[in-house]
Amino acid sequence: MPDKEPIGVIGVGWVGLVTAACFAELGHEVWARDIIPEKVESLSRGEVPIHEPGLAELVTKNAERLHFTTDMAATVSNAQLLFCCVDTPPTYSGDADLSRVEAVLAELGDSKDHALVMKSTVPVGTGRSIKRRKPDIGYVSAPEFLKEGSAVDDFMNPDRVVIGANGGSEGFADRVERLYSPLGGVMVRTDVASAEMVKLASNAFLATKISFINEIANVSEDLGADVREVARGMGLDDRIGPKFLQAGIGYGGSCFPKDVQALKQLAGNTGYHFQLLTAVIEVNELQKRRTIGKLQKHLGSLVGKEIALLGVAFKPNTDDIREATSLVLAGRLQGEGAHVRVYDPVATDRAAELLGGATVTASALEAIDGADAVVLVTEWPEFRELDWAGEVKGRLRNPVVVDGRNFLDREALREAGFTYEGIGR
Ligand code: UGA
Repeated sequence: MPDKEPIGVIGVGWVGLVTAACFAELGHEVWARDIIPEKVESLSRGEVPIHEPGLAELVTKNAERLHFTTDMAATVSNAQLLFCCVDTPPTYSGDADLSRVEAVLAELGDSKDHALVMKSTVPVGTGRSIKRRKPDIGYVSAPEFLKEGSAVDDFMNPDRVVIGANGGSEGFADRVERLYSPLGGVMVRTDVASAEMVKLASNAFLATKISFINEIANVSEDLGADVREVARGMGLDDRIGPKFLQAGIGYGGSCFPKDVQALKQLAGNTGYHFQLLTAVIEVNELQKRRTIGKLQKHLGSLVGKEIALLGVAFKPNTDDIREATSLVLAGRLQGEGAHVRVYDPVATDRAAELLGGATVTASALEAIDGADAVVLVTEWPEFRELDWAGEVKGRLRNPVVVDGRNFLDREALREAGFTYEGIGR
């Protein structure tokens, strides 16, 4: 096999576009296929529809090797390794919706020369079910571990690359391994079901870590400990590690909420009650709502109060607001009779669509102007740079701050006369 091999990417959403652009950067010809003609046209013109650091640059730089198309037949005739990157959103039951994967399968033949390389997050057992229906085509599970906001960097510097294949597909798995080998992560070769489980279990474990530290934070508030100190002390034990121990107002995004639920559901479908994950989900839901009590403690009833939310995106460096804490918080505040103003440096357009009744402002100061309290929801660096002691305090009706990410300088704010509420401190 030559060093560089043509690659097909099916589904050019966030995962697909990062995968396509990064493989092109590594020197491979990439056929990236999507069913939406407008998306394909704008990508072909070099317009990148998502906010992901470094991605637009890679798309421009590698334009010659990136072939965006709506044509599945062209993709299949140009490439043998077909990376399936379509989305698998949750259904009402909490199971993964595999209809887009099924649509891809319906278009693919059952050729011995091709392999479907599954990047989409799918339930454990999906690979086996696909192989039963398409016994000839190769099947490789290659779950993605990219984080929004650092996806290009994560792709180029993986901790590990997990590649699952059974029996007859080992040759294709070797080829997938060769694609990733220049990147240097630890290569984990395993069977398909185990690879599928690594993905779900990793996200579920990370979400568990967050809910765990959030509960430690809640208990620390009553017992006088500071969760940041606790996390520092815990994290230095390398069996625990320092990452994902930042207490806050709950995890969001398109992955953790969906994947934790999907794993719980998958277990439930086999008759097993995954108690731990049930608690992880409930803790996260309650965590989003705890801010209400903190505001009431200082403002009394929230009826008619003006509350400024800084940050709508589920985390910084992304414009993604799927399952963002801001949405639940805004809804709950409105339910309490408050009026909500929101500001986000990039996610404002989508926010206006989803946050009915809230005022979306063009700047942080505009959101703060005349507000009864500020809640920091997303730790965008620009929020730390605000002139808190001067302009912010001058514009607030009450100098009350709930810092949902323990991100601001508590001491400086208290010195400036703010009532400061963090998480677990
Ligand atoms: C997550 C995983 O980290 C990726 O490895 C995985 O590939 C991805 O899901 C996926 O399945 O596609 P992502 O959702 O982009 O990535 O974001 P994270 O950086 O993991 O953050 C998730 C949420 O947890 C955010 O709301 C963040 O604010 C919250 N979080 C994170 C905390 O509350 N505390 C922490 O210590 C860390």
